[in-house]
Amino acid sequence: MAESMDPGLLEGLQEHFNLERQAQTTYFAAAIWMAERELKGFSAHFKSEATGELQHSAKVADYLIARGQSPIVQALEAPDQSWVTILDVMSTAFLMESDVTTSLQQLLMAAERCGDSRTAVFLEPMIEEQIKAEHEAAHLIGRTKFADGQAAAILVIDNELRKGVAHPAQLS
Ligand SMILES: [Fe+2]
Repeated sequence: MAESMDPGLLEGLQEHFNLERQAQTTYFAAAIWMAERELKGFSAHFKSEATGELQHSAKVADYLIARGQSPIVQALEAPDQSWVTILDVMSTAFLMESDVTTSLQQLLMAAERCGDSRTAVFLEPMIEEQIKAEHEAAHLIGRTKFADGQAAAILVIDNELRKGVAHPAQLS
């Protein structure tokens, strides 16, 4: 039996569901951009990010269904593929991740405001994972800036991404 849900919160979850789908498309476009430039590691990284975003949208869809709501699949915007440099692509990825973080945090606040603890419990681990994603995107921007467009340095990062070892330093 469907529980009732605050209409504003429901609208926010629907928007978030589509925001994750939008992120998936943007990451896929980034994977293509990198593949066209023979950057196998960057391409694989973005392809895997795209898969992750699809999984996030699926999680929101599962949750909406569990609450007796129908996820509404909306038309997506075409990603802006006019990137010139690798740094442009990384910046798009970082801004997108920070938009997703903001969206999740606003949803959590809305859930708390209307006393929907089930939604809050659903969102908390997503936020934790999202903050990690944003941190990793920031790290990649940092590395890319450090490489300063030099092919040898870019190929080092590409290789790290291919091996799945391009994570931020962890001191603890
Ligand atoms: Fe996501």
